Amino acid sequence: MTTYSLALIGFGGVNRALAELIRDHSGRFEALGFDLKVVAITDLGLGSLVQAEGIDLAHVLALPRGASFEGMPGGSAEPRNEEVIRNSTADIVVEATFTSPVDGEPAVSHVRWALEAGKHVVTTNKGPAALYGEELSSLARKHGVRFEFEGAVMSGTPVLRLARQMLAGLEVKGVQGILNGTSNYVLGQMETGLSLGQAVADAQELGYAEADPTADIGGSDVRLKVAILANEVLGADLKPEDVTTTGIQDITPDDVVRALGEGRRWKLIGQATRLEDGSVEATVSPLALPAGHPLAGISGATNAVAFDTDLLGPVTVSGPGAGRTETAYALLSDIIAVDASTKGSVHA
Ligand code: HSE
Repeated sequence: MTTYSLALIGFGGVNRALAELIRDHSGRFEALGFDLKVVAITDLGLGSLVQAEGIDLAHVLALPRGASFEGMPGGSAEPRNEEVIRNSTADIVVEATFTSPVDGEPAVSHVRWALEAGKHVVTTNKGPAALYGEELSSLARKHGVRFEFEGAVMSGTPVLRLARQMLAGLEVKGVQGILNGTSNYVLGQMETGLSLGQAVADAQELGYAEADPTADIGGSDVRLKVAILANEVLGADLKPEDVTTTGIQDITPDDVVRALGEGRRWKLIGQATRLEDGSVEATVSPLALPAGHPLAGISGATNAVAFDTDLLGPVTVSGPGAGRTETAYALLSDIIAVDASTKGSVHA
């Protein structure tokens, strides 16, 4: 059985949820044909912990709030990200830090250091893929390792790898999606007459919203995901700023209730379409969809993507687009892809 050693960079909700999966579901990994061992954890608050023989996850998961790795064997109060990423014995760097959507940092640097050190990277951060996807993928190829980021779009719900593998024989003419759970939840709440502000406060309470919910409401979160989809699915070379973006901030409860009365539902739609000349146009904007549209019935915080294909027509995938365990599953699916690639399986 192959054992992969992991370095967890960032120990917030998502990497903690991955650590819980590893702690609680060893049978699941056995069935997959590999075993996972965490050899390093770094975190802004906790510092860093490096134990090549494997960290006791039950112990670190039980540390009280405000604790530090300082004083533990291999522990330090400093995160020491670069040193850990470059020099630890990890085969796979699991990047899930709190990262700026504007410049993608610190995730972009973490990904670069790991790839340069010949380590596979799996990440849920959107910034590296949306801002530097081609550069980082080519750096990964140069070093013979994988750069996987399934969780950047729709958390663990399969979208990117599904498109790359299962839709490979189709001509995909375009892709449309509800890619932000907060805005979809908010629009749904507004159908019941709630104001935008009240609905956003509810979404924050439920943990869907970004730390800065203007990224959800103003469309910039979707813009990053559309850039990734356009590049990965349609082979475009778009930057987030190439995606014309309008959020839902100017939609009123009146608009939403009136549309509902006419059989239409307002949704924040991210889309990328191949034009006649072969170029790809990408937008984010609120649209009042007719009832028969494949995305009209997607309610609450659920996300969905509809691929417009030549041989199958529309193919729609829906599922969670956020959540700690749901996003941790994306990391596991990326690790499965790394395993498949190192074993030469078709699932890579
Ligand atoms: N805030 C995002 C959402 C989370 O509401 O969908 C995932 O990017």
